[in-house]
This record gives sequence, structure tokens and C-alpha cells, in this order.
Amino acid sequence: MSKLSLVIILAAGDSTRMKSSQSKVLHKIAGRSLIENLLVSVDSLSPENHTVVVGAKKEEVINHLSEIAPKAKTVVQEKRDGTGSAARLALDNHKGDGTVLILAGDTPLLTKQTLQEFLAAHKGDGNKASVLTAQLPDPTGYGRIIRGEQGEISKIVEEKDTTADEKDIDEVNTGVYLFDISVLRKVIGDLKSNNAQNELYLTDAIALINQSGEKSFAILSNDYTETLGINDRTQLAEAAAIMRDRINHEHMQNGVTIIDPTTTWIDAQVKIEADATIYPGSAITGDSYIKANAVIGPRTTLDSCQVEEGARVIESNCTESKIGKAAKVGPFTYLRKGTVLKNESKAGAFVEIKNSSIGEGSKVPHLSYVGDAEIGNETNIGAATVFVNYDGEKKHKTKVGDHVRIGSDTMLVAPVSIGDGAYTAAGSIINEDVPAGAIGIGRARQVNILGWVLRKRKESKSAAAAKKAGAKE
Ligand code: UD1
Ligand code: CA
Repeated sequence: MSKLSLVIILAAGDSTRMKSSQSKVLHKIAGRSLIENLLVSVDSLSPENHTVVVGAKKEEVINHLSEIAPKAKTVVQEKRDGTGSAARLALDNHKGDGTVLILAGDTPLLTKQTLQEFLAAHKGDGNKASVLTAQLPDPTGYGRIIRGEQGEISKIVEEKDTTADEKDIDEVNTGVYLFDISVLRKVIGDLKSNNAQNELYLTDAIALINQSGEKSFAILSNDYTETLGINDRTQLAEAAAIMRDRINHEHMQNGVTIIDPTTTWIDAQVKIEADATIYPGSAITGDSYIKANAVIGPRTTLDSCQVEEGARVIESNCTESKIGKAAKVGPFTYLRKGTVLKNESKAGAFVEIKNSSIGEGSKVPHLSYVGDAEIGNETNIGAATVFVNYDGEKKHKTKVGDHVRIGSDTMLVAPVSIGDGAYTAAGSIINEDVPAGAIGIGRARQVNILGWVLRKRKESKSAAAAKKAGAKE
């Protein structure tokens, strides 16, 4: 049997301090919404039921939950009259007793370990009510923990209701609680809104439980950074930085070299193998997977990309692409969705590739656009080649064989196909297939008009230089 009957996540608040058209709990750090980060940790406790209290921007939150936590039940709080009233709604929608964990949807940094330790302490001591607390260097904005003579918790006072003395208390309520459900049920109907915000505070349940003859306990967490709540964009950035450091630390412990962890942003779900190296200013997001000995950066963005062993990606921006073993990308390369670079291939400077595969050992070294193409092995695409895939209405495909040499500045007008071992002449516009072994030349023949400069630009420096070189009119 699970040790937790119910988890309640409070996420109905209006989040006015975020000044956002989006719900606060949907804002992201490390590629996951705030509420998803929290759920990942909460789920390690294997709760029997989840209830999320939603309200402000509820459709958006319900939609998101149906994707990330389809089993979670949602309860709508129409009137945002406080955390106490939100928790009560969730309790009223739950049958049965046992233990409930209550948390705010805006504390994404809580770890599995801390929640497990909190639960173990609550259960181990036979507590009926426990509050997770933290000592903050700057407690402003948080509810303060008032302890009694024996160190037990007597009440929680919200910032707006504190006296000058209470403001100096640095132990705060993290908004994470464990309650015996039947004990909480007895008092939750008695919460009063006679406070500075005119709300029903869940925090007041502590004082009420104490008055009812049961005891409440404050359990101090040893890492305050985990318990930070996000109410505005500054706190969002602070939390993101803490999460970044945590993720980078873990990769480094696993053998990844990160040259500058402060400028390296890696999403939570990214996988990186030992002996990969990440240079400064890089972001690796989505479902990216970086294999051993790959070198990424500096200043590279990889979103949901797979980078095979020993590949190198410098100063580039890549999305939903596969970069083969020992392939080279960059600098200044743009790989868009559906790019597949096979082993030892190359996409060089100022090259954009979309929905195309580049065969083993093939190269697109400079200044090219490759769209909707299939390129064979050991082929070279000359500088400034454009795969002309769009006729203004539809996209078309280009096929290029093995060991092909596309001359510089070729326009390959799709649909078109270049056979194995074929060449195209530099500067060609190729709109007919080139058979294997042929050279396709699609350009006007060059004509030299002798003496033209001497006749038409008589007094120019060019004419003088030509004369000196022996040119005649
Ligand atoms: C709350 C605590 C405070 C604690 C802090 C920790 C109360 C009264 N205060 O303050 O002691 O130090 O969290 O981060 O609980 N919510 C609802 N319905 C409502 C109001 C809020 O669902 O009617 C949700 C919010 O969406 C949010 C959570 O409850 O996820 C906390 O609300 P918030 O307004 O952020 O409370 P704080 O002022 O941070
Ligand atoms: Ca908060």
C-alpha cells in the first residue's frame, strides 16, 4: 500500500505578479512546466491519487495536465479566496482517510529526496500535521514559522500579517505540508479570513490543529534553494539558474565535460554520454541525445537532436536533426527539422538544410540551401548551391547519387535527379535529370568581345591597364 493516499497541488491562483497571459504553472524551466517539474518529484512517492486545484486560466492548465498527468483529477476553484479554501475543495472531492501531501504548483525545485525524507520524518514520528520549512537568507514574502517553547510549531504568519519582530524570523513555510486527512478535515471548515488579504489561509490550519489538541511539527529542509516559490519573472530566472546548475552538475558527475556551466543550458530530459564536451554558450533542449566524444559549441543550440559519437557541432542552430558519427557541422550552420547527416558527412559555414539526408562522407561545405533532398555517399555539393525545392506553390524533391560533384553555384530545380558519379558545371541551372556519369551544363556559353573596354571606356583606368597589357581596340 502506498504511504500517501492523496497529493493536492494548488494551482488556481491568479499569478498576478507574473504579469503573464499564460498560467504561472505552465511557465517553463529546464524545458518542463513548473507543475511538471513538481509532478516528477511528487510521483516518486507513488501517491494513490492526485488532485490539482485549478482556477485562473483553467482550460490551459487542464489541457496541459491531460498531456503530462492524465491520471490527475482536477477540481475547479471558481473564487480565489485563498490556499485554505483551495485545499478544502480538493479534500471535499476525495473520499477516504490516510495521509495527504499538499504543495503549491509554483515550487518546481523540490527534489524526490527531500519529499521522501519529509514523508519519512512525518511517518516515523507519527505526526498528524507536518510543515516543511526552510531558512532563507531573505525571507521576504514568505509565511514565517512561529515556534513555541519546546521548538514545536505554534503558527504560521503571512508576510502581510507579520509584526516587526516576526519579520526578522528567517524560518519560512515552504508551502509543503503532510496531514492526517481526518485531522485536517476537522479544522479546515473553521478557517477564517480575518487577515490582511481577506483570504482563507491553509497556513492557519496549523494553529487550529494545535488548538484542537493535536500537535503540528515543522521539519526544516537542509537546502533552501529547493523550496523557492516562483511568483514573478525574477524568481523564475533564479529557479531556472538553480535547475541549470543542478542538471549540469549531474552531467559532469557522469563524465561530461562542460567548459562553462554558467552559460550552458541543458533541459531536464536531455541525455549526454560520458566524454562528450560542451563549450560555452550552448543550449541543448527537448529530447536531445548526445553520444560519447561528441563536441558541442561554443554557442550552439540543439533542440531534440541526436548527435552520434565523435561528431562536432560548432556555432550552429539545429532542430530535430540527426548528426551521424564523426560528422562535422558549422560554424554558422542551420539544420532544420528532418535533417539527417550520415556518418562522417559535413555541413559547413552558412549552410541551411531541411528535411534532407546527406550520405556517408558527403559534404555541403559552404553557403548552400538544401531542402527536400536525398544525397548519396561521398558526394560534394559545391559552394553556393541551392536546391530549388519550391515552385511557389508546392515543394519538390531532389535526388543526388553517390560520388557526384555538383559545381559551385548550381541551381538544382526540383523535381530533378542527378545520377551516380555525375557532375554539374559551375553556375548551372539544372532542371533536367543528369544521367550517371554525365556532366550537366545549364548556362549560356561565354563570349569575349575583344577591345570592348578600349572602345567604350576610352579614358578609364581599366582601358589604360588593358593597353599596357597589350590589348588592341
Ligand atoms: C504561500 C503560503 C506561504 C508560503 C508560500 C511558499 C499561504 C496563505 N501562504 O504564500 O506561507 O511561505 O506559499 O511558497 O498559503 N492558490 C490557489 N487558490 C487560491 C490561492 C492560491 O490554488 O485561492 C495556489 C496558487 O496558485 C499557488 C499556491 O496556491 O500555486 C500558493 O499561492 P500563492 O499566492 O503563491 O501564495 P504565497 O503568497 O506564495
Ligand atoms: Ca507562491
